[in-house]
Amino acid sequence: SVLLGVIGDPIAHSKSPVMMAAAFRAAGIEGEYRRLHVKSDQLEQTLQDIREQGFLGINVTIPHKVAVMDYLDELDEAAKKIGAVNTVVHANGKLKGYNTDGAGYVRSLKEEAVPDLAGKTVMLLGAGGASRGIVHALLQEEPERVIILNRTEYKARQLAAEFNAGIPVEGYSMQQAHSYLPGVDILINTTSVGMHPQTEDIPLPVELIPEGIVVSDLIYNPLETRLLRESRLQRGCTVHGGLGMFVYQGAIAFEHWLGFRPDVQVMRQAVLDSLA
Ligand code: ATR
Repeated sequence: SVLLGVIGDPIAHSKSPVMMAAAFRAAGIEGEYRRLHVKSDQLEQTLQDIREQGFLGINVTIPHKVAVMDYLDELDEAAKKIGAVNTVVHANGKLKGYNTDGAGYVRSLKEEAVPDLAGKTVMLLGAGGASRGIVHALLQEEPERVIILNRTEYKARQLAAEFNAGIPVEGYSMQQAHSYLPGVDILINTTSVGMHPQTEDIPLPVELIPEGIVVSDLIYNPLETRLLRESRLQRGCTVHGGLGMFVYQGAIAFEHWLGFRPDVQVMRQAVLDSLA
């Protein structure tokens, strides 16, 4: 029987336990996946407990994705470059950190909307932690060009400068959206704008979006944000929601722990059932 869990603060609303339980059941694995409410001042002790109690690994969520790196023995290359860890593997007495968020997003985008990202011009809205992981993972797919727009322009410029090598990565202010949207093949919202169904905020005017492109949103609750709905209805876009990112980041974590791919359909359905 394997012991796993997720640490975060808050953690009560995490869908990971229900999703992972479904993955274990489908794989015929006896596993326990615990929800662990961990405050920042308890992080070090919690990692010690995870070593001593023989956890096979953990997922790490807000606000610990950066701080947890201080308590690990090794970091995978992608986690190092991204500067954040969402998955820890405990093997041979060592804790190794991975980041499956960006890779999970890209796997979802390829499976569900754009099988081949090579040669595509991709625009990301937002320059925070989520955007960072996705830029890293996208660049492995040989896109033509990556454009980052952010409310706070210097963060977009900074993120772009850090990844701009070989494939052009550029950063601008959100105000400049109208100048850079023509020619974009895939538009990805990584900001939190659109998360609140009551206010129905949208990160940019839908009229600016080129007709028929792919529009993607990391948000999965609501399953279809206003950005996605209006892009689909008013601009004829193909839309891609954030549920797949959540499912695949979990699926890749599962692979790191257990060495084989879980049933992602079962995982997706478990999350959908828990949202309903
Ligand atoms: P995450 O890990 O989800 O990326 P984050 O690192 O806090 O979270 O980043 C949040 C992103 O959403 C940032 O790009 C932020 O823009 P700023 O850098 O200008 O703060 C963006 N964001 C959050 N609220 C926003 C809003 N109301 N309008 C526009 N952008 C917003």
